[in-house]
Amino acid sequence: MTTNIKKVTARTFKKMKDNNEKITMLTAYDFSTAKYIDECGVDSILIGDSLGMTILGYDTTINVTIEDMLTFTKAVAKGVNRALVIADLPFLSYHVSKEQTTINAGKLIQAGANAVKLEGASDFILEEVKHLTECGINVAGHLGFTPQYINTIGGYFVQGKSYENTLKLLEAAKKLEAAGAFCLILEMVPEESAKYISENISIPTIGIGAGKYCDGQVLVIDDILGKYPGNVPKFVKQYANIKDIIKTAVTNYNDEVKKNVFPYKENTFNLTDEEREKLDSNSVK
Ligand code: KIV
Repeated sequence: MTTNIKKVTARTFKKMKDNNEKITMLTAYDFSTAKYIDECGVDSILIGDSLGMTILGYDTTINVTIEDMLTFTKAVAKGVNRALVIADLPFLSYHVSKEQTTINAGKLIQAGANAVKLEGASDFILEEVKHLTECGINVAGHLGFTPQYINTIGGYFVQGKSYENTLKLLEAAKKLEAAGAFCLILEMVPEESAKYISENISIPTIGIGAGKYCDGQVLVIDDILGKYPGNVPKFVKQYANIKDIIKTAVTNYNDEVKKNVFPYKENTFNLTDEEREKLDSNSVK
């Protein structure tokens, strides 16, 4: 089926950076949310492994598996027409061997993602980025605070907080760009450092807690909707309070069922008068 919608691609991302046009990205994990985000004109949807916390209730992203990612990637991809769909390669799914990384990334692409995202810029990971790109798979990098390394980082700390560390981040960003990454997520980095990195690489930077000078912004959908029950990070703006809306609706439903008020007439199927009369005259005593 043909539509008039122009799909956002990795090439579009680059053009948007070159034209100083901000790139928008949000996470999504299910069909309907992805559809609404896409219909609102958001440029990219990330099936983030943050689903480990928002959907599966874990404390970190470490427990998320490739099977989890495949389930949610398929659901999101079905809801999207325009946005560029990026799926996270989860913890250790790209650290064992080039073969395993390729198979896992390929599965996410075949599930409907247009790109995969991985964290870090070690020599091993740079090789993987190069290889996946050569295979025809778009790869997004992720630097700064990298949640899959929470145990070695030791906590939720802002990264690149000094001149030297900013230069280290820039060096890693340049290596990712050279390896073929088409964009770079910068998480929890001081605004000045993110600006410096954004100005010194040619692929777009997408910030989360990295200030306003990145080429684009990404946030977790549950955070902006006020749905996640845990702590909301400083870099989040809550644009709605879905938690309260859900609780009010569910409380009302619960009360109405307990009081035998729901279902109402308009929610009920009825027999015709003729059929009901037959039933009444044959009623079993
Ligand atoms: O998993 C995720 O949602 C992410 C974003 C926070 C960038 O990686």
